[in-house]
Amino acid sequence: MCGIIGFTGQTEAANILVEGLQQLEYRGYDSAGIALNDENGTKVIKTAGKVAMLREKVDQASDASGTCGIGHTRWATHGGVTTANAHPHVSNNITLIHNGIIENYKEIAASLAVKGYKAISETDTEVAAMLIDSLYSGDPFETMKEANKILEGAYGFCIMFKDHPGEIYCMRNSSPLVATVTEDGAYIASDMVALLQYSKDYFVVPEDHIVVMKKSGIELFDIETKEKETPKMLHVDWDTTAAQKGGYDYFMQKEIYDQPEALTNTVAPRLHNGHVDFSADGISDELFQGVNRVIVCACGTAMHAGLVGRNIIEAMIRIPVTVELASEFRYMNPILDEHTLVVIVSQSGETADSLAALRLANERGAKTLSIVNVKGSSIARESDHVLYTHAGPEIAVASTKAFSVQCAGFYLITLKLAEIKGLMTDEEQADFCEQFEKAIGTVEEVLKQDDYIKTISEKIKDTFSAFYLGRGLDFGLASEGSLKLKEISYVNSEAYNAGELKHGTISLVTEGVPIIAVATQSSVLPKLMANVEETKARGAHVIMVTDKDMTGYEGAFDDLIQVPEVDDRFGTFGVTAALQILAYHVTVFRGYDVDQPRNLAKSVTVE
Ligand code: G6P
Repeated sequence: MCGIIGFTGQTEAANILVEGLQQLEYRGYDSAGIALNDENGTKVIKTAGKVAMLREKVDQASDASGTCGIGHTRWATHGGVTTANAHPHVSNNITLIHNGIIENYKEIAASLAVKGYKAISETDTEVAAMLIDSLYSGDPFETMKEANKILEGAYGFCIMFKDHPGEIYCMRNSSPLVATVTEDGAYIASDMVALLQYSKDYFVVPEDHIVVMKKSGIELFDIETKEKETPKMLHVDWDTTAAQKGGYDYFMQKEIYDQPEALTNTVAPRLHNGHVDFSADGISDELFQGVNRVIVCACGTAMHAGLVGRNIIEAMIRIPVTVELASEFRYMNPILDEHTLVVIVSQSGETADSLAALRLANERGAKTLSIVNVKGSSIARESDHVLYTHAGPEIAVASTKAFSVQCAGFYLITLKLAEIKGLMTDEEQADFCEQFEKAIGTVEEVLKQDDYIKTISEKIKDTFSAFYLGRGLDFGLASEGSLKLKEISYVNSEAYNAGELKHGTISLVTEGVPIIAVATQSSVLPKLMANVEETKARGAHVIMVTDKDMTGYEGAFDDLIQVPEVDDRFGTFGVTAALQILAYHVTVFRGYDVDQPRNLAKSVTVE
């Protein structure tokens, strides 16, 4: 949420900043801006609209030169989408950008009004700039320390002080910042993707720390003690092309096609001789011993992976699992103890609600394990253990490959729990591994059906609403399929447990309304098909998405997306890819921006 970049060094900054913002645009894209600060003063260029519009403004600017600057792409929280509300914000000596929310900005603004400060924008961020300016004593560090005591909420700031040209001061409490230094200069950003073309080595700015960026390099300090610390460097093995479209029309399309590789990278290194092996992850067996209950906490797509996880864990090893929305979990006073394993699922590892749920679980003595894609992210750092997914960077706002690998993570955890609790024989574990790998292999086959799925998408492209149906595990897949369609195509789409539709929602099923029925569970297939027939009888346009043989059910559907048949436990992967392709093509037909749907951001670092 909100993309941040900063650079100071030997080369011109403007291009580095705008290019960085282009990489970070998935974090927010309603307005963008840069500021440069050198001996000749501060220049700000900003605009409502996407980074491409900022690029035009920068190219047309009479002077966008300078080797030190900051840049921001915004996802609006306080104040509408206007140029005045775009970052950077300036208050006398101070120019800054911000990711997060300042909760007490109204009180601060009121106290500053007495001193003559008057905001130009409607943002909480400008109030922070005014506060820092009002506190400025000539010593940036001390001033930031003071501001930190007053500001409430979440923030990552990059600040330039007019009388410290060529320098950038960054302060973080919770909103993420990562930094690196090369021979060209020092870089900071809200995530690694923006820095990938300069370095694969970086450090995560720890919470409650200050980073001082000068032409000579970067220094990291504890905000309280002022002690200088050596940054803990991390290495990312993503290559620069991983964050590019690579010939595809959209990132989402590329990321759908990345799935076979992402799944293999996540699963293959952890399966050895018919067993799951977490030793390279440093996850000890002890984590799973004594666990009698699992709670999955996550948001959005990651929560849907939890629904899949619940079904596989409960069905295969009979440990009770509940799946909670992280935003609710925090406020429901959950009952947790040392026998509860709380699994936090997050692609970014930075989602504010998921992070807060993790902290609560830690506080209350539960065991915590996170399934995370981004190395060194907050959730990864604060969990007892991390199972990293290896999907590479996911840029499209709609999550695709991250979902598949999160589900794969749950299969791996299930197998480990089964082994530790003695619930599967060696033969059963070996069979699990074989069927699992076979199912992953089918994704490649599903991708070959892209053109065929496109023809089905065209039939439903003009619909106002759609319903996804499934039972058991298939409800999790249907939920994710429905979210994909809804978030990018704006079709009013909902997922229902198939048996529940007739208790109200079937009143919305009229002639031609698309029903997308997901069927990977043989045991409930006849029941599901009975529900499907009920919608067909009311004129629905039924699309079956299944790996099962539909002989005998031919009259019950209009279109069939048949993916390769797999063991009932592993139907997740093929069907998921088919549903993603369906949502993608509907959106392209409707003419919307697939990668940057309205009002959304990829990484939601505010509550
Ligand atoms: C946002 C994104 C979703 C994502 C959710 C959780 O809402 O738009 O695609 O599923 O956040 O993100 P996380 O990074 O925690 O998986």
